[in-house]
Amino acid sequence: MNKIALVTGATRNLGFSLAQGLARRLDPADVVYLTGRDPGRIAQSLQKLTGSVAQVRGELLDVSRRDAVERFAGQLLDRHGGVDIVFSNHYTRVQPEDDPAEIIDDYVAANNLGTTNVLRSLSPLLRDGGRLLVVASRAGSLRALAPALHPRFQNLRSLDDVDRAVATWRDAVRTGRAPGQAWPAWINIPSKIGQVAAVRVLAGQRRAEDLSRGILIASISPGLIDTGASRAWLDLAGAPQPDEVAGPLIDFALRPEIDEQLYGELVHVGREEPGPFGTVIRNGAIVPWQ
Ligand SMILES: NC(=O)c1ccc[n+]([C@@H]2O[C@H](COP(=O)([O-])OP(=O)(O)OC[C@H]3O[C@@H](n4cnc5c(N)ncnc54)[C@H](OP(=O)(O)O)[C@@H]3O)[C@@H](O)[C@H]2O)c1
Repeated sequence: MNKIALVTGATRNLGFSLAQGLARRLDPADVVYLTGRDPGRIAQSLQKLTGSVAQVRGELLDVSRRDAVERFAGQLLDRHGGVDIVFSNHYTRVQPEDDPAEIIDDYVAANNLGTTNVLRSLSPLLRDGGRLLVVASRAGSLRALAPALHPRFQNLRSLDDVDRAVATWRDAVRTGRAPGQAWPAWINIPSKIGQVAAVRVLAGQRRAEDLSRGILIASISPGLIDTGASRAWLDLAGAPQPDEVAGPLIDFALRPEIDEQLYGELVHVGREEPGPFGTVIRNGAIVPWQ
């Protein structure tokens, strides 16, 4: 059967490299959806693609709009009957000069509610052998958060629970109360923890059936990438470029077998040991949740 792949936030950096890499690696009858929130940038990205073998279709998909994600899922179902590979990769940036209270609503709407929108609408479409990979970060482990805040993301039962936990943090940031509650200044950290918590909840609901059908749902830690999303926050000396990071992630998504231990976990795939940019971990290594 033809493979259908989809990448959110594919108009630059890692998302673009994932879409281009999938288009090069898949077969001519396969389809890769290169999606983004801006029609002009989608058109530019389609023009920038080189070496495509599979068909590539550009599609407007602002993940922060739940109705749009639901509608797009319905279209995929009508056109193809399901989906095989989803990289939920989108990211709305924060920079050190931004006032978190001013940007937190949009930040959470895209990065967190956008991710639960994707999980809700696209997971039911996964065909046997499917892969639904949420590009999160090593910061998505509870180890990056003050212990007093861990219970906020533990024992959640539904994606709605996760959205409510994230909204509580978001509201604390908007009202300036977050530092007093021990939330970190870099809003990327709780946001990534919220993404990983969402994947864990969904995986908890679907585990037995997904494993019987060869489906893998997981969060991904890709390691640092030399992009404008992280350059102002972290020392990126020696960090790989997006194409280099995308390669092992695509290998991981295309592996025919799944390691059941990785199901639902935050999985590091990419350059790692020794030091931050050493050898490439290809088969995935679990980043502990707590
Ligand atoms: N960079 C790193 O060091 C690093 C490290 C660990 C994990 N990650 C994760 O890797 C992923 C990609 O990072 P990156 O550095 O490539 O990010 P990036 O350069 O900021 O690209 C993010 C992409 O998401 C799109 N986007 C933003 N809001 C959206 C929305 N509402 N709906 C759909 N698409 C939207 C952006 O579109 P526009 O072009 O329209 O802005 C852009 O194409 C992110 O999840 C990030 O957290 C990155």
